[in-house]
Amino acid sequence: MRTPILAANWKMHKTVGEAVAFAKAFVPLVAGVANAEIVVAPPFTALAAVGAALAGSNVKLAAQNAHFEKQGAFTGEVSPPMLADLGCAYAIVGHSERRALFGEPSELVAKKAAALLAHGIRPIVCVGETLDEREAGRTFAVLESQLDGSLASVDGGRAAEVVIAYEPVWAIGTGRTATPEIAQEAHAMIRSWLGKRFGGAAAQMRIQYGGSVKPDNTAQLMAQTDIDGALVGGASLEAESFAKIVAASA
Ligand code: 13P
Repeated sequence: MRTPILAANWKMHKTVGEAVAFAKAFVPLVAGVANAEIVVAPPFTALAAVGAALAGSNVKLAAQNAHFEKQGAFTGEVSPPMLADLGCAYAIVGHSERRALFGEPSELVAKKAAALLAHGIRPIVCVGETLDEREAGRTFAVLESQLDGSLASVDGGRAAEVVIAYEPVWAIGTGRTATPEIAQEAHAMIRSWLGKRFGGAAAQMRIQYGGSVKPDNTAQLMAQTDIDGALVGGASLEAESFAKIVAASA
């Protein structure tokens, strides 16, 4: 059985004070949840304070990005050991906003994923097609190419530590969630790709769905065979809303 994993991607939202207020409100709401992994990814500036507020709880800390080097002359970047030092259990890499707005290719995502694993942080590797790509019938080809590139450096023995997030770009921040059937079709394709690449470990690997996940559509999505969690943007910014998404998944 795969333990569901629900992750809040706050993107560029919340000051330290706002982030800590969320953590304090959220921890008691999910304290009784034992059968799901719960993760919060604040902006870098709030990682330390949120980490402290989550101490002793069942909520884990994640970063939204990472550089692949340990240290060096990389102005503005943050390294995997720095994130490990703050207690990050996970880091999101290859989010479509980073791919589209910051020009990150899959080869760079692959370096980040490998570097994170080397420092004991589990990568959440995002893939997903645009609307144009879907309408042109290229969804599977796009996913395959992103998976080929982004997971190129993952050692098979570590595959079970990697989480994949399928986030169709047309569903992100649009209120237009993929139907459970459309999402399941993509997740099944991804799991079959994982099976070819990693063998038996594919059955243990979690594949999250992301894109306009809300409290009232979570259960239907989570009921699909190959959907093992959610990566949530907008609906994760309020403690009660994200707690409802966790409750609908656990
Ligand atoms: P929304 O939930 O706001 O659509 O964002 C999804 C996402 O990009 C999570 O990484």
